[in-house]
Amino acid sequence: QSSAALLKWAQAASRGFAAAAASGPGRKVAVLGAAGGIGQPLSMLMKMNAQVSQLSLYDIAGTPGVAADVSHINTKAQTKGYDKDGLAEALRGCDLVIIPAGVPRKPGMTRDDLFKINAGIVRDLVEAVGKHCPGALLNIISNPVNSTVPIAAEQLKRMGVYDKRKIMGVTTLDVVRAKTFYAEKNGLDVASVDVPVVGGHAGVTILPLFSQATPKVSMPQDVLEALTKRTQDGGTEVVQAKAGKGSATLSMAYAAALFADSCLRGLNGTPAVECTYVESTITDAPYFASKVKLSTEGVDKVFDLGTLSDYEKEGLKAMMPELLASIEKGVQFVKSG
Ligand code: NAI
Repeated sequence: QSSAALLKWAQAASRGFAAAAASGPGRKVAVLGAAGGIGQPLSMLMKMNAQVSQLSLYDIAGTPGVAADVSHINTKAQTKGYDKDGLAEALRGCDLVIIPAGVPRKPGMTRDDLFKINAGIVRDLVEAVGKHCPGALLNIISNPVNSTVPIAAEQLKRMGVYDKRKIMGVTTLDVVRAKTFYAEKNGLDVASVDVPVVGGHAGVTILPLFSQATPKVSMPQDVLEALTKRTQDGGTEVVQAKAGKGSATLSMAYAAALFADSCLRGLNGTPAVECTYVESTITDAPYFASKVKLSTEGVDKVFDLGTLSDYEKEGLKAMMPELLASIEKGVQFVKSG
């Protein structure tokens, strides 16, 4: 459903946008880290979203060029670039803040290896969000998402402005990959495929639920295990192929734009269902990715896991120690800072 919506506005954009009337009020959206590998294509895709009336592009380097470039696209979003001194203005009045700021992985690194650098970046940016647009929805892309979401939550709790409905770790790329790999393997039309992906966003914490995929195809165990592993290692596949030049950026920007579009549609009164990493009580982990309903205040309902196969039950059990440790690491980072 959301792919169809994205395609619709991309097509409308290519026609000069006369046909792309926004549903609901125009929204102010900020991209923090807008000049990066993800930030640039994501900024372009958000400029093409008819629900956006103002677009703030913030980075510590390179934003004037990106903003000038993106601002020439003939869609309605008023686009402005901001550098270090402009963060407050970039954020003021925002409905949605998307954070892809930070360093990406190089071959041989895990997402957790990024913690030292990205934890501080995310904490400081979220502090500014808490100060300048405390009611905004937050889409956190910066890795390790399993820790950066708890970091954001703890920082906002500290400031007395935490609302669990507003903070989401973006795991849409895991869903995008699972759909692509599942459709490819089974000869299905990828546009008709859905695969929920739950857990977290690193290695074994990524758990695609192929038993709940639609259309349903029964796969031999070895094929199922290979597809699960490929989904879990999708990020590493790209890191290795880029051979030192970063991690997924284009597919990530696409996934983030899909997710942001669903968030905006929810705000505008058309609820959407997406998998995302949020504060959760459906398992033993205080943060967990599962299907949620996105509505006018953000996360309206966290859906439970439904029926799992024995293989998925094992996967769920196996991920818990790593997921819990990553969450605790994030919480402690803010508490002890
Ligand atoms: P990149 O290095 O190309 O871009 C990062 C950008 O962040 C740079 O332009 C940099 O100047 C900016 N930046 C650094 N510190 C900043 C600060 N304090 N404030 C504002 N901007 C700041 O990296 P790339 O490839 O865009 O990746 C960004 C992040 O996204 C990484 O942490 C990466 O691991 C993560 N990622 C997450 C995925 C997900 O599925 N959630 C998938 C792929 C990457």
